[in-house]
Amino acid sequence: MTWTHKLTTGIEWQDADHRELLAQMSALLIAMKESSARSEIAKIIEFLDKYSIKHFAREEALMREFNLPGTAAHIREHGEFKQRITEFLDAYSRQGGSSFVVMHVQQFMQDWLIKHILDTDKKMASNYLMLIHAA
Ligand SMILES: [Fe+2]
Ligand SMILES: [Fe+2]
Repeated sequence: MTWTHKLTTGIEWQDADHRELLAQMSALLIAMKESSARSEIAKIIEFLDKYSIKHFAREEALMREFNLPGTAAHIREHGEFKQRITEFLDAYSRQGGSSFVVMHVQQFMQDWLIKHILDTDKKMASNYLMLIHAA
């Protein structure tokens, strides 16, 4: 999955973060297909974990600051994603993930992110942009 225009929310840093997340998810898929070293794969997954946590925190700070509608549900969605990745990382470091499992998680992350951007993030961004342009 590469970047397409319909994923644009209109908030510059948010779009840049989403691009980076999708690029790293693609990198993970390529690394799996090329049977890259385990350490290489672990590095990408850890990057995705840290970067998504930072990204979510940034969105959540903005939603709270401007008291945007749908904030609680949006934060819950982020929480579900974080939970899923944390569980996976735990399992991966304890017993090592088979390529099947990693590919499955990669697919989950990518599908989740695209759906989340198209629906939840875009709504948040349009609420925010409307508010600041009205001010
Ligand atoms: Fe986002
Ligand atoms: Fe979000």
